Amino acid sequence: MTERVVPPRVVAAERIASEAGFKKSCIPEVGRLLGLAAAAKPHGVIAESGTGSGVGTAWLHSGLGGAARLVTVERDEELARRAAGVFADDERVSVLTGDWRLLEEHSPFDVFFCDGGGKRDDPQRVVDLLASGGLLILDDFTPSPDWPPRFEGEVDELRLFYLTHPDLEATEVLTTPGSSAVVAARRC
Ligand SMILES: C[S@@+](CC[C@H](N)C(=O)[O-])C[C@H]1O[C@@H](n2cnc3c(N)ncnc32)[C@H](O)[C@@H]1O
Repeated sequence: MTERVVPPRVVAAERIASEAGFKKSCIPEVGRLLGLAAAAKPHGVIAESGTGSGVGTAWLHSGLGGAARLVTVERDEELARRAAGVFADDERVSVLTGDWRLLEEHSPFDVFFCDGGGKRDDPQRVVDLLASGGLLILDDFTPSPDWPPRFEGEVDELRLFYLTHPDLEATEVLTTPGSSAVVAARRC
């Protein structure tokens, strides 16, 4: 069987990650979820905190509608500069350099991949920045058989915050047998 096609911009961003020794890019299973989420909001504002080398951005881009906008922010100047090069030919994409709060002026978000800044340090603000019906994706959790979910023996309060937030319809999905993502929609 032939391998599933990986979007060329994902390949380009992965190459930058490899050259830079950056090891925190999202995995393809999460990437395909990102592409799906972006495609569900063809006129939307699609946001990402923590661009890294642009792998997640490229997956979001793979589902980006013609009338949508994609804005991502990275505090590491060199990574941001190199990731921006992957999207230099597409005016729908903005790669910002600085703290994740630079994203705020582009809110509300129809999709928010919160992956570097916000997720842990200001989770309520993350929810506030979502549009009605907006989708939130948070990856890098470890599946837990317990409720409430536990990580390393302790209740995972952060995951619980998102999964039980009254403004969110949220669930946790396996991305691999050993990793999961929280996916949520902001209630209207
Ligand atoms: C998990 S990596 C991002 C991976 C990328 N989203 C992907 O899917 O390929 C997290 C990134 O967030 C950046 N970061 C962490 N805190 C940040 C903040 N407060 N503002 C902006 N970027 C931040 C880090 O420099 C790092 O590059």
